Amino acid sequence: MAGRRKFGAVGVACPLLVTSRDGELLILQPWAIETSGLTKAFGDFCAVKDVTLRVRRGAIHALIGPNGAGKTTLFNLLTRFLPPTAGTIVINGQDVTTLAPAEIARRGVARSFQISSVFPHLTAHENVRVALQRDLKTFYQFWRSDRSLAVLDARADALLESVGITAFAQTRAADLPYGRKRALEIATTLALDPSILLLDEPMAGLGMEDIEKISDLVVSVAQGRTVLMVEHNLRVVARLCSTITVLQRGEILVEGAYDDVSRNPAVIEAYMGQGHA
Ligand SMILES: Nc1ncnc2c1ncn2[C@@H]1O[C@H](COP(=O)(O)OP(=O)(O)OP(=O)(O)O)[C@@H](O)[C@H]1O
Ligand SMILES: [Mg+2]
Repeated sequence: MAGRRKFGAVGVACPLLVTSRDGELLILQPWAIETSGLTKAFGDFCAVKDVTLRVRRGAIHALIGPNGAGKTTLFNLLTRFLPPTAGTIVINGQDVTTLAPAEIARRGVARSFQISSVFPHLTAHENVRVALQRDLKTFYQFWRSDRSLAVLDARADALLESVGITAFAQTRAADLPYGRKRALEIATTLALDPSILLLDEPMAGLGMEDIEKISDLVVSVAQGRTVLMVEHNLRVVARLCSTITVLQRGEILVEGAYDDVSRNPAVIEAYMGQGHA
C-alpha cells in the first residue's frame, strides 16, 4: 500500500511525505479522518452535536464517554450507516459526506459492531469467507473457478492466523470462547484490508486475560492502519491510544493525550466519576 510506509514528517499539522511503490514522492494529508461540525438529530434530540474530530493517520485514537454520549452514532455517521443532519466527513483527504456505505468501505474504512456481528452457526473459517465475499470482485471470482475458491480459502486461513485463532477454524462461532469470538469479529473487519478500522468496544464483556490478548491484537492489526476505537476500559485506553476524544451528550468535551485528559476536572466529573475506570 502506497500510503502506509511513512517516509518522513514535515511538521505536526503539515502533510506527510511518503514514497509510493515505485519510489515516487507523494504528499498525504496527516489526517485519516476529519469531521467538521458533524451533527445527527433524531427529531428534537441531538445525538451528535457539532463534532469536529481529526484522527491522525497511523494512530490508535480512543473515543470515550458515558453511555448514550453518541459514540456509536458517530461511528454510524462515519460509515454512512446514518446520514448526518449537518457537517462534513473527510476520509484520507476526500469528502465522503454524501457517499453510500459501500463506497466508504471501498475507500478503506471498516468497522466492528458493539453487538456481536458474526454468524453464530457458521464456523470461524466460514465467517471470514463470507466477509471476504463481501468484496464483489472476489465474489464473482469465487463462482468462476476452483482456483478462486482455493485463493479464498487461503485468504481466510491467513486472516484467522493473523488474529491467532487458526486452531478454532472449524469451530462454530457460537461455540467459540468469548475472547476468540472477539478476535473473529476483528478478522471479519480485516477482510477487505481496510486502512481505517473503527472498533466499537472491542473489549466489552471480556475478562482480564482476554483483554490483554485483544489489546495485543489491536496493536498488531493497527500496524500500517489507523484505528479509532470506542473503549470504556481506561487502562486499555492509556496503554494503546495516543489521543483520546471524550464525548459527552453528543459534543466533544475534551481531547488530548491520556495524562492530560484523565486529569481534566470536567472529564473526571462526566466520565471517570461514574466508576468506569
Ligand atoms: N436511531 C435512533 N433513533 C433515536 N435515538 C437514537 C437512535 N440511535 C441512537 N439514539 C440515541 O442517541 C443517543 C446516543 O446513542 P449512542 O448509541 O450513539 O451512544 P453511545 O455513546 O454509543 O452509548 P453506549 O456507551 O451505551 O454504547 C442515545 O440517547 C440513544 O438513545
Ligand atoms: Mg455505543
